[in-house]
Amino acid sequence: MTDPAALAALSTLVDAGKVLTDPVSLQAYGTDWTRHYAPAPSAVVLPRTIEQVQAIVRWANRHQVALVPSGGRTGLSAAAVAAHGEVVVAFDQMNQILAFDAVDRTVVCQPGVITQQLQRCAEEHGLYYPVDFASSGSSQLGGNIGTNAGGIKVIRYGMTRNWVAGLKVVTGSGELLELNRGLMKNATGYDLRQLFIGAEGTLGFVVEATMRLERAPRNLTAMVLGTPDFDAIMPVLHAFQGQLDLTAFEFFSDKGLAHILARGDVPAPFATDCPFYALLEFEASTEDVANQALATFEHCVEQGWVLDGVMSQSETQLRNLWKLREYLSETISHFTPYKNDISVTVAKVPAFLREIDAVVAQHYPDFEVVWYGHIGDGNLHLNILKPGGMDKNEFFARCAQVNQWVFEIVQRFDGSISAEHGVGMTKRDYLHYSRSAEEIACMKAIKAVFDPNGIMNPGKIFAPE
Ligand code: MLT
Ligand code: ZN
Repeated sequence: MTDPAALAALSTLVDAGKVLTDPVSLQAYGTDWTRHYAPAPSAVVLPRTIEQVQAIVRWANRHQVALVPSGGRTGLSAAAVAAHGEVVVAFDQMNQILAFDAVDRTVVCQPGVITQQLQRCAEEHGLYYPVDFASSGSSQLGGNIGTNAGGIKVIRYGMTRNWVAGLKVVTGSGELLELNRGLMKNATGYDLRQLFIGAEGTLGFVVEATMRLERAPRNLTAMVLGTPDFDAIMPVLHAFQGQLDLTAFEFFSDKGLAHILARGDVPAPFATDCPFYALLEFEASTEDVANQALATFEHCVEQGWVLDGVMSQSETQLRNLWKLREYLSETISHFTPYKNDISVTVAKVPAFLREIDAVVAQHYPDFEVVWYGHIGDGNLHLNILKPGGMDKNEFFARCAQVNQWVFEIVQRFDGSISAEHGVGMTKRDYLHYSRSAEEIACMKAIKAVFDPNGIMNPGKIFAPE
């Protein structure tokens, strides 16, 4: 726990009342959406300016205090969990959009800007911020950058990394670096901006970001298609990709749909029960495009890949179809899911999923398994739900036993043990399944450059030494 005299010194560095030590704040700010670790920070500090962030980092170096960054706390890998007496640095006070440039189509944001705030700002200027996911109403941009957030539009627009034109960061030694300065072209050596994206706050704090915007999509239209088995989903993807530029291609299983329908506030897509469902989206910018989508649907039915389907005819229908997929995470969160977020290249998905499914069926016969994910970009979410009466720790321990088999398959397929949720604490012991010993050594050496005293989010990405 941080020494009281050091905490008193910390409170002189920020605005009055912005160091919190009450139990409710410690509990709230010390955790994210994972439930694996009990939050136990020493304090929460809320800076308002970049200078205050620098002062906090210098203070932490002087007193050897570990700092944990905190955004919207929607993370799924415990990267923003403070479980060991750290001081949480929360960016709620740095939540302003500072500038918009219509020529460059960029927006300068503070790290506490909510994802939806950025999306709305883009809309107000007739543009589009395309990184989107279910938690966009509460996740903060600094956290999105720290985890290189992905979501539901990656197939068309890529991850957060693609949209960061410039970053200001405060390193673990308190220096302010201005990285790339919004440039489109810049061939002046190492791109340090990219190192801070996805670093989970282990190198320093993102204190300002210049984000790129895109032209707004025209008449987004969704289809939900029911398939007779998992193997039919990939031919459906290929058929549609051959004809249309998809903005999303998601999937979920019948078990996932059953949980959504049990909520009572989302209509079923159609009457036919199917084991798997694909949700795809495209810009129906002309009538020809919509007709092409319908013709492709008919082709898929003729081939036996699709049993039933529906196409949105209005904004409301579009939103309702998306709820079938977007509400899944929150809906199953009440069952304390053990989450795996794995990926392979798209071509390997069918063989990969068959192997993983066999391991899961063999080792978790008594657990409910809910599959969903961003299958169009090779990212599958494997959620194992805790049976009602089982103790949480026993459940997580049993799930962890199977990780080895799941991750050996991931490794054999040259896949990733964390496609978009990050490493944090939940996946750090498995990093070697996706990154070589040489790569991990390079990553640690990079951390030592930016964070020589190891105060930045220790124990995340790498196990403590
Ligand atoms: C999603 O795709 O819904 C998010 O990654 C969250 C989750 O996997 O539960
Ligand atoms: Zn996801």
